[in-house]
Amino acid sequence: MKMTGNTILITGGTSGIGLGLALRLHEAGNKVIVAGRRKELLDEITAEHPGIDALVLDVADPDSIARARETVAASHPGLNVLVNNAGIQLLENLLDPAGLQAAEDHVTVNLLGTIRMTYAFLPLLVGNDDAVVMNVTSALAFVPLPITPTYNATKAALHSFSESLRIQLASADAGVQVIEVVPPAVRTTLLGQQDNEQSMPLDDFLTETLDLLREKPDAKELVVERARFIRDAVATGSYDDVLAMISRS
Ligand SMILES: NC(=O)c1ccc[n+]([C@@H]2O[C@H](COP(=O)([O-])OP(=O)(O)OC[C@H]3O[C@@H](n4cnc5c(N)ncnc54)[C@H](OP(=O)(O)O)[C@@H]3O)[C@@H](O)[C@H]2O)c1
Repeated sequence: MKMTGNTILITGGTSGIGLGLALRLHEAGNKVIVAGRRKELLDEITAEHPGIDALVLDVADPDSIARARETVAASHPGLNVLVNNAGIQLLENLLDPAGLQAAEDHVTVNLLGTIRMTYAFLPLLVGNDDAVVMNVTSALAFVPLPITPTYNATKAALHSFSESLRIQLASADAGVQVIEVVPPAVRTTLLGQQDNEQSMPLDDFLTETLDLLREKPDAKELVVERARFIRDAVATGSYDDVLAMISRS
């Protein structure tokens, strides 16, 4: 992925990692469109950062995705980067029937939302130069945090989906790069860890991630140092130890 001159749509761009990426990529000389459900935050972002555009989007709603596709096709026909970042993470007790709603919501937003966005926007990306689909998964795709079981499962599924997507697009010579971002715990409000000293400061995460991309523009995965031991737990034979450690956290 080139670092400048892109037209980039970022889902979940109203806060946390998505907003952080949006601001960094905007500063770096890209056209950025932030998307999310919270219209008041979108208005604040566009007012504070002239040049950033905004789009109301609920990735859980197929009609909202279809409307977003039509809007972007008309307003930004040069769109060449889709960042699938929108996500939720909720605690889930598998012995409590009330947990089922949270489980279904994760699948709808994190997994189906990303799949629907990919189907909707790929036709816009294919044919534009330097096209990229960037999927934000999680280190928890590789070793689960047992208190958020369906969250981990959706991220593992998104890792798998990203792998197939990359191969299919390459086989079809579609000219679309697929990059998976694999964050460790980062200080955002996702699961209330914004002040948690154990989580990585958001600015540090953004700097290291974008440095990795700058160093390796053809990267398949962007894995910061803090996430590496989880990402590689199977390969290094430390899976059981890492799972035990994460289970205690
Ligand atoms: N922070 C971490 O520790 C961490 C670790 C690994 C992976 N990640 C991943 O990083 C991504 C961003 O998370 P974050 O930490 O930045 O959390 P965050 O600050 O809570 O951001 C989540 C974003 O997703 C958007 N979103 C949620 N549901 C949506 C929906 N139905 N439609 C459209 N947008 C929706 C939210 O926007 P609206 O509410 O305005 O719609 C918000 O902008 C997520 O995919 C998360 O799984 C985070």
